[in-house]
Amino acid sequence: MGLNNQWMQRDLSVLWHPCTQMKDHEHMPIIPIKRGEGVWLHDFNGNRYLDAVSSWWVNVFGHANPYINERIKQQLDTLEHVILGGFSHQAVIELSERLVDITPAPLTRCFYADNGSSCIEVALKMSFHYWLNSGKPEKKRFITLSNSYHGETLAALAVGDVALYKETYEPLLMDVITVPSPDCYEREPGASWEEHSRLMFGHMERALEQHHEQVAAVIIEPLIQCAGGMRMYHPIYLKLLREACDRYGVHLIHDEIAVGFGRTGSMFACEQAGMSPDFLCLSKALTGGYLPMSVCLTTDDIYQAFYDDYETLRAFLHSHSYTGNPLACSAALATLDLFEQNNVIESNKTLAAHMGRATAHFADHPHVGEVRQTGMVLAIEMVRDKATRAAYPWQERRGIRVYEYGLRNEALLRPLGSVVYFMPPYVITPDQIDHLASVAWEGIERATRD
Ligand SMILES: Cc1ncc(COP(=O)(O)O)c(C=O)c1O
Repeated sequence: MGLNNQWMQRDLSVLWHPCTQMKDHEHMPIIPIKRGEGVWLHDFNGNRYLDAVSSWWVNVFGHANPYINERIKQQLDTLEHVILGGFSHQAVIELSERLVDITPAPLTRCFYADNGSSCIEVALKMSFHYWLNSGKPEKKRFITLSNSYHGETLAALAVGDVALYKETYEPLLMDVITVPSPDCYEREPGASWEEHSRLMFGHMERALEQHHEQVAAVIIEPLIQCAGGMRMYHPIYLKLLREACDRYGVHLIHDEIAVGFGRTGSMFACEQAGMSPDFLCLSKALTGGYLPMSVCLTTDDIYQAFYDDYETLRAFLHSHSYTGNPLACSAALATLDLFEQNNVIESNKTLAAHMGRATAHFADHPHVGEVRQTGMVLAIEMVRDKATRAAYPWQERRGIRVYEYGLRNEALLRPLGSVVYFMPPYVITPDQIDHLASVAWEGIERATRD
């Protein structure tokens, strides 16, 4: 019995894994990881796996990055944590200054939470509360896009639209207004991404026109609906939406939890549309993939609506025990250093172009409906019928077959349904991208053979 197996048995007797039907592990092994280094994860039996999904999209500069490790160690010897109510510390102040600096104006205030979902809760509550404080308590609804994903806590789930995660809990969720997504996979043949995104904006315009008096905010994942299958759209949609939100007096929440920090090719997706949201939610790569932390940036206008004498009860009384944790802040500061020192956004262009070239031939595969890419995210959609793009029945779990093939061939390619994708750490090399491409190709070949 290998060491992997021993750890797996111990794991299976006490753990309950996220996003998992645990019975699957009767035939699919859990992989215990002993250590990480760069893009590689090493198990206890001496196998390694190239982390093509950045461990749920969090890692940007590799596992056990020496620079980030060092910064956290320094912080650890100084201050591990302190209550952020009434107290503060150097790392959280410096981090907030730098975040305000690198995000578009007029985002000037940082409110911290522990993870992506709780950051969404913060943005939703803050938006509603702003309108309440401004004498508009009727503005309490949210507009969201079909196929969107914003996390798994109840309000985050309510503004999401991926049935697999949401349907079961529907009786517990607030009612939202769902508008068809600009997802360009659904465009008419011959239409450009921009044309389709503009066309689909008509739905949003009508929803705003009809409901704006009751709507606090529109929430979207800019440019890529990640958990919804890496579905992508054109930046023009963000620009049109900003203008419409201004016209109708509705807040705009950008959930850049997955796409922030360079994933779409720019540091933040909103830069590609030359606009700024009222709330910018960041997490995942914020700490380089080291520690759970999120931040909701907002404007001075919103901040001022809460700023008053205590007795008015206008304060935003939301907190988490670990808000602004110094260790997480030091990981985030180190991550920002690495972005600056290595001109990462620029050098990622070469890597992104290489990903595109390495997978260009997938478009001709008889069971690939589309290969799409935005910046450092590349997705391959497997289909049953190429001509009609008819999807595989979800019960066939074709993506899992690619995943299992990947594990046997040094690649962690955890799919989203029938979508295989690369969203790797930025320290990946062209050779490693080629390795992923060849494993994905062979995995797709085998997964679609019958
Ligand atoms: C766009 C988006 N928003 C929110 C979340 C939730 O983040 P967390 O898993 O940290 O709660 C995710 C997670 O994948 C996400 O992709």
